[in-house]
Amino acid sequence: MKIGGRHFRTIWLKPGNECVVQLIDQRFLPHRFVIEEIRTVEQMATAIREMHVRGAGLIGASAGFGMYLSAIEGAARDSVDEHLVHAAAQLKATRPTAVNLSWAVERQLKNIAEEKTADGKVALALRTARLIADEDVEQCRMIGQHGLKLIEQIAEKKVGKPVNVLTHCNAGWLAFVDYGSATSPIYAAHDSGLPVHVWVAETRPRNQGSKLTAWELSEHGVPHTVIADSAAGHLMQRGEVDLVIIGTDRTTYTGDVANKIGTYLKALAAKDNNVPFYVALPSSSFDWSMRDGLKEIPIEERSAEEIKHADGWWDGQQVEVRIAPEGSLAANYGFDVTPRHLVTGLITERGVCEANEKSIFSLFPEHGP
Ligand code: MRU
Repeated sequence: MKIGGRHFRTIWLKPGNECVVQLIDQRFLPHRFVIEEIRTVEQMATAIREMHVRGAGLIGASAGFGMYLSAIEGAARDSVDEHLVHAAAQLKATRPTAVNLSWAVERQLKNIAEEKTADGKVALALRTARLIADEDVEQCRMIGQHGLKLIEQIAEKKVGKPVNVLTHCNAGWLAFVDYGSATSPIYAAHDSGLPVHVWVAETRPRNQGSKLTAWELSEHGVPHTVIADSAAGHLMQRGEVDLVIIGTDRTTYTGDVANKIGTYLKALAAKDNNVPFYVALPSSSFDWSMRDGLKEIPIEERSAEEIKHADGWWDGQQVEVRIAPEGSLAANYGFDVTPRHLVTGLITERGVCEANEKSIFSLFPEHGP
C-alpha cells in the first residue's frame, strides 16, 4: 500500500544487504513513520513480543524472517540445527493467540530439515521466508476480490449512498504484509469507485483502530470515522452499519473465531440487529487442529499497565499518561472468541464460505477428514 505516494510492504529485506530485515515499527504510528532494522532472531522475537510488528499475517511473516536470521547465525557458528530449534521455541513463546506464528515457524523447520549443508539451509530459509511473505500478499489481495462482491451487492441496494462497513482493531495492511484481510475488500471497493465509509472502532487498550486503521484509511483516502468501542451497538440499532468485516488471529476448522478483545460484543450486537458479520482471513489463520475455539484457543493476557495507561502525541513527543487509580487492579485480556453461530461468513483467498466444518473443508479439502 502507499504512504505519501510511495509503495511499502510492512516487512522486507534491506536492499543491498539481505542479512538485515527492515520493518515498519508500528509503535510510533500514526505520529512518526519509523523503519527498524532487525539483524538477529533475538531482535525479531522482541519486535513481535513488544508489538513493533503485530497482526496475525505480519507476525507469521516476521517469524519466517526470524527463522532465516537464526539460520544465518547458526551457519556462522557451525550449528544451524541447534540454532533453529532454539529460535523456534523463542519465537513461538512471544505471542500465543495468532496461529500464523507457529504455522510459519513449523513451515520453516520442516523445509530446512530437507537440506543437508549449512549454506543450503540458509538459502532455503531465505526462500521460505520470502514465499511466506509473498503468499500473504497474494492471499490478502484475493480476499479483497471476494469481499468486494459482498460490498457490491449491498451498494446496489443503496443506490449511490455509501456502504457503511464497521471494523474492529487493525486487520489492515499493517497487520499483514500488504492489503490486509478485513480492509482488503474495502480498498478494492474504494479503488473501483464504490462509495464506502468505515466505522473504525478505537480498540482499547492499545488503540490499533484509532491509531493504525484510521491512519491506513487516511493514507489511502478512504472516508472513515473513529468511534468508541462501545458505540458499535448503538450505530447498528440506528441502521448505520451495513456490514461488519473483521480479521482473526486464529479460527478453528469448525468456524470459531478468535480476534481482538471486544469482537464478540460486536458480533452479538450484529446478530441482534440483522447486520451481516463477516470474518476475513487467509488460510494461514485457520487452526486445522482445533475444534472448540472457546475451550482450546489460547488467549493472550498482557500487562495491566496497558489498561491503566494511555499514550498519545503531545508537543512533538510520544507521552504516556495514567488513566486509572494507581492502586486499582486491572486485567488485560487481548482476545475473545466469537462462536461460529454468530458469524455470517468467512472471506478467504479461495472465496466466501460459511463458518462451519463442512463449508470450510469444501474450500480447503486438503485439510479435511
Ligand atoms: O494484538 P494485535 O494487534 O496483534 O492483534 C491483532 C489484531 O489486530 C486483530 O485481532 C486483528 O483483527 C486480527 S489480525 C489480522
